[in-house]
Amino acid sequence: MTVEWHKFMMHPNELNWTDQHLAAVEVDGRKLGIARWQDQLYGFQQKCPHASADMVSGYVDAMGNVVCPLHRYKFCLKNGRNVSGEGYYLRTYAIEEREDGWYIGLPPKSMFKWI
Ligand code: FES
Repeated sequence: MTVEWHKFMMHPNELNWTDQHLAAVEVDGRKLGIARWQDQLYGFQQKCPHASADMVSGYVDAMGNVVCPLHRYKFCLKNGRNVSGEGYYLRTYAIEEREDGWYIGLPPKSMFKWI
């Protein structure tokens, strides 16, 4: 899959983290969520694929799943799998630390709504 890398911050301290270690960012006009779990950062779509709740208002459980605040569906931060079994899928995005800052890999904009 084609990915375009976007620099979105110089340092994680720039983000407005919730007390659940989640933060909202806007990158290339797209609203995304960032989770900090076990010293790693994970990117994902901010809207829940079930009924569009704000995933950044949820929390990350002990297994590394982001939990939706509305109906508590759970999604694996690493691959977006709906581990609570309702059959949805949360888009997730790779994050890389580079010498000049932090980057997130997004599909090209023309493909964003399909992937
Ligand atoms: S809106 Fe997220 S689980 Fe229903």
